[in-house]
Amino acid sequence: MARVAVVTGGTRGIGHAISIALKSKGYRVAASYAGNDAAAQKFQADTGIPVYKFDVADFDACAASMAQIEKAVGPVDVLVNNAGITADGMFHKMTREQWDKVIGTNLTGLFNVTRQVWEGMRARKFGRVINISSINGQKGQMGQVNYSASKAGDIGFTKALAQEGARSGITVNVICPGYIATEMVKAVPQDVLEKNILPTIPVGRLGEPSEIARCVAFLASDEAGFITGSTLTANGGQYLAS
Ligand code: CAA
Repeated sequence: MARVAVVTGGTRGIGHAISIALKSKGYRVAASYAGNDAAAQKFQADTGIPVYKFDVADFDACAASMAQIEKAVGPVDVLVNNAGITADGMFHKMTREQWDKVIGTNLTGLFNVTRQVWEGMRARKFGRVINISSINGQKGQMGQVNYSASKAGDIGFTKALAQEGARSGITVNVICPGYIATEMVKAVPQDVLEKNILPTIPVGRLGEPSEIARCVAFLASDEAGFITGSTLTANGGQYLAS
């Protein structure tokens, strides 16, 4: 029986590549999205992967939608917490709304979604939780106090939950991508990207979404069963975290 994988934010960007990679490895995949109906419908038509619309920042919506997914696709074996947003701005200009929405999606979203599948994984004695953090959760980034705090929180979440899941056959790991060629990075002002970011990436280019998807596929596999609580850094050498 094929394993079931859920990818939040799985219809665009890095999540799009993760959904496709897991499907190609034989998983039954469901992808969530929050707002872009047109992209989600195109993704579903192109890939045959069912899409579910809910906001990971909304606990009750997560409970209802994850139950719906488990009923339609099956109990979740692999959860990829990929949904993430930015609302960049210098701290002296940052609003409460920019703070709340980034923390709500990028950090509280991990609680809201993972909580729905955790008891089932414990009962079945198997699970893979893979969180997508960021280089900027490791090193901090000017203009991203909210985002960096949320992504650093994802790393702490991973390390704590890994210890709880270990005896139940559940691994919990976090991937920290660097700057990947997605709409999120393309939204960075061109001059900032060219002057401040690209020159600091030793491999001399942005990463590709598929390069992160391959990391996810590995961590989801049986071969990665001894790896838990770990932080997998994939950033082209831009920040050498231990
Ligand atoms: N690295 C280094 N310097 C940066 C920088 C960065 N990422 N972002 C901004 N700066 C510098 C600017 O070059 C500028 O320097 P100068 O005054 O010497 O020209 C200074 O900071 C102020 O920047 P702005 O003039 O752009 O100020 P602003 O108030 O108009 O805008 C901002 C501030 C919204 C933060 C804008 O600069 C910006 O969007 N920066 C990019 C921030 C960033 O790196 N975001 C990552 C998004 S991708 C992502 O988050 C995915 C991931 O996980 C990696």
